Amino acid sequence: MSVPSNLPVWQELHAHHAAIADLHLRDLFAADPARFARFSRHFGDLLVDFSKHRITDETLRLLTELAYQAQVPEWTARLFSGEMINHTERRAVLHVALRNRGNRSIFVNGEDVMPEVNAVLEHMRKFADQIRRGKWRGHTGKRIRDVVNIGIGGSDLGPKMVCEALEPYGDPTLRMHFVSNVDGAHISHVLADCDPESTLFIIASKTFTTQETMTNAHTARAWLVRELGDEAAVARHFVAVSTNAEGVRKFGIDTANMFEFWDWVGGRYSLWSAIGLPIMVYLGMEHFIELLEGAHAMDEHFRSAPLQDNLPVILALLGVWYIDFFGASSQVTLVYDDYLRSLPDYLQQLDMESNGKSIDREGQAVSVKTGPILWGGLGNNGQHAFYQLLHQGTHLVPADFLAPAHSPNPVGDHHPILLANCLAQAEALMVGKTEAQARAELEKQGLSGEALEKLLPYKIFPGNRPSTSLFYRRMTPQVLGALLALYEHKVFVQGVIWNINSFDQWGVELGKQLANAILPELKGERPADGHDASTQGLIEFCRAAQ
Ligand code: F6P
Repeated sequence: MSVPSNLPVWQELHAHHAAIADLHLRDLFAADPARFARFSRHFGDLLVDFSKHRITDETLRLLTELAYQAQVPEWTARLFSGEMINHTERRAVLHVALRNRGNRSIFVNGEDVMPEVNAVLEHMRKFADQIRRGKWRGHTGKRIRDVVNIGIGGSDLGPKMVCEALEPYGDPTLRMHFVSNVDGAHISHVLADCDPESTLFIIASKTFTTQETMTNAHTARAWLVRELGDEAAVARHFVAVSTNAEGVRKFGIDTANMFEFWDWVGGRYSLWSAIGLPIMVYLGMEHFIELLEGAHAMDEHFRSAPLQDNLPVILALLGVWYIDFFGASSQVTLVYDDYLRSLPDYLQQLDMESNGKSIDREGQAVSVKTGPILWGGLGNNGQHAFYQLLHQGTHLVPADFLAPAHSPNPVGDHHPILLANCLAQAEALMVGKTEAQARAELEKQGLSGEALEKLLPYKIFPGNRPSTSLFYRRMTPQVLGALLALYEHKVFVQGVIWNINSFDQWGVELGKQLANAILPELKGERPADGHDASTQGLIEFCRAAQ
């Protein structure tokens, strides 16, 4: 594998960028009535429109060539065949096996993982069924009504986001809660809202050592035992999802009630595994399988479609185009679908924990910019908050717009209004408003002379701000599965192009180590020393206030 900037096409892309950087999307659309048709693709119920990007046919040709020269097809084959491509952790990367609905054998260290994958799915199905049918009851015989998932990062964001996104498919008699933050306020609020006799806790942690999760889990356990007055109650109210059977046993959960997954499933890629247990409990097996099927369909597309028509590859290349050639450092996800309110948080972990890297696969400092700062939120709310910067600020921020054509809540004109806003924002970012248009508008309002000239510069919108629109007929488990797999593979392809390992996360370790050292100092068990003056001063401030 080579340094991306040494690839022959990298220099060609620089030259091409210089040639087209001043072209305006407004003019590209005006010159080519077929632009939308050429630069958009359908995938099942999903429409991906990337025509509002600062590209020409030649850009796409060169970017596709970049994918070839970076050996994207070869790396894709290595991913799907279970090779140890997470080299720093010496692990295969096989979230695709979890949704391998064709059941094709996939081998890790010479062993087919599919029988185990299917066995855990069956274990999850039986358990979810028992909860949903009221067969699994609490210690005092009450039916389970509240399900509290305790986990953080990948053991929280995926299941939380999917349960919210597919709420119309969920069991309305179940209330789903997700506790992640070690701030005692989080678990206290949730516990205050739950009846211990009818609450199930799912302790979700790949390692079963994560400080925040274990602290919340112990607090929940103490609360349950205190409220029900019996240690034995734990068996009916706690289950675990983990790769660490020993840790689960030590916590006091019977390993018969542990749902297993494997070290070849990365935390941020784990919602398809047993980490998806809250999803299956809430939606039922059938919908969970549909979610897997949607992702599998995207996997098959990614594995087999030619690069120029391959959706994850196209989105990845567009990202690289802006980051490395336009110098854009951020990317925004704008959801016009209230059910997807947690998608930006989920994508933030997926993208930033995967590609927030500066050392390449050969252990050398990278020579190009890698993963973007990913952020976002509900588009309609953002319009009245941060969109000002998107329209007239000094940063180029490529945007993803997501919206359902059909709403499951057809209340009055709400949905057409929502969609009109989404379409208008993408259009406004792209076309902008010229000086002549702004002038004409001001004149129409009766302004002239100095007053007009003074106001005019503020009324101009530069436009030429790119976006992808990801529209779907309606949100279904299949659509969501395909959408999430699309983003996962986009992140993978970008990692391949930048020659980085998208599947480790060493950058989260230092803070954990230092927090462990500071904790006894904060609690007064040891004098605070060895810190810089700032950290020392802050520790002393906290201690004095205790
Ligand atoms: O600290 C980062 C991280 O390891 C993430 O990668 C992971 O999703 C999260 O913590 C939770 O880890 P675990 O599932 O082991 O508790």
